Amino acid sequence: MSFGSMPIANSFIKKNNFKKQFFYKMEAGFCKNCTTFQLIKVPKAKMMFNENYAYLASTSKFMKKHWGELSKNIVKNLKLNKNSFVVEVGSNDGIFLENISRKKIGHLGIDASKNVCDIAKSKGINSLNAFFNTKTAKKIKLKYGKADVIVCTNTMHHIEDINGVVEGMGELIKDNGTIITEDPSLNEMLKKNAYDQIYAEHMYIWSLSSMNFLFGKHGMEIYHIENNNNHGGCSRYFIAKKNVKKITKNVLTHMSLEKKLGVNKLSTFLKFKDKINFLKKKLKSLLIDLKDKKKIIVGYGAPAKSSTILNFCGIDNKLIDKIFDNSETKIGKYTPGKSLIKIENSDNFRKTKSDYCILFAWNHKKEILLKENNYSKKNGKWIIPVPKLKIV
Ligand code: TMP
Repeated sequence: MSFGSMPIANSFIKKNNFKKQFFYKMEAGFCKNCTTFQLIKVPKAKMMFNENYAYLASTSKFMKKHWGELSKNIVKNLKLNKNSFVVEVGSNDGIFLENISRKKIGHLGIDASKNVCDIAKSKGINSLNAFFNTKTAKKIKLKYGKADVIVCTNTMHHIEDINGVVEGMGELIKDNGTIITEDPSLNEMLKKNAYDQIYAEHMYIWSLSSMNFLFGKHGMEIYHIENNNNHGGCSRYFIAKKNVKKITKNVLTHMSLEKKLGVNKLSTFLKFKDKINFLKKKLKSLLIDLKDKKKIIVGYGAPAKSSTILNFCGIDNKLIDKIFDNSETKIGKYTPGKSLIKIENSDNFRKTKSDYCILFAWNHKKEILLKENNYSKKNGKWIIPVPKLKIV
């Protein structure tokens, strides 16, 4: 499945760097053996995760609440106390660990991007700027001992050396410890035609089946699963060393759901390919049509997902005037690739006249539409790009 030439999704750029962009050919494939849906080739990790990483997890108050709730559940259900040790792989700006740190529980956050790691440190969170792998895990074990819990949310899909990560987790976790991962779900991507979940930083879209295969190779297994609506639909996996914890009913139910959806069959992905090519044509022709009618079109939210939509569909600044976003790391820059649309502070959205607004951050629909409820009152129309192109 080819998406054509793509920039690094999170590489929002300054005007003077338009000509210095990096492009790669983005192709996704399905492995019948390990049942993983993944990109065939990805750019080097340093190209994606560095001192300029644009995604700040704390830009959404819903996400703050979400990770706050996870920490409460973990502390209660896994009976954590001041002697426990919680490790987070991919700790970003500390959105999850700040809750653990506040309770004075031992912790360490690891993130490959220096800028987000520095933000976490400024909040008093013990943080390490490094790529997590077996070597890093051994160093941490030597310095702090083994972990009771390892949390790794929205990160397992980022890392090419995924076997190194899982081996490292196996090395670092206590024999009766719990690993918790949470990532966009393949089920939901297929159900929602959410092709914008696919980009270099999302090089794998995990299913229970593929995740279990991966951890199984390293002596571990998924014993529990929970699903939620974050990031367009995520699965939270609870993992332990093999035969240590009882497999819950949720795992068995989810397995049969995946079978029914055909997540382990190539034919499912061939159908998905046809559907997204159809959505691509529909979105582009809608925008061209609106532009012909002299309508002003803007966008809301410049998630990494928007880079896939814009570049895959061939949408640029001739069709969309600007995109509003609340991330300091993106405001004043331009969307990457050939789209080159200016990103403005979302505080200006209300002051700017437009007829249509594409909600690129469709996974935050509830929060954004509530905040910007005046837009519809003033006859502005929202364009929702997935699962079906919808105007509301
Ligand atoms: P995400 O889908 O990867 O979480 O990214 C959401 C993007 O949308 C991120 O760049 C921040 C932006 N955003 C806003 O501009 N306003 C908001 O109210 C929310 C929730 C997100």
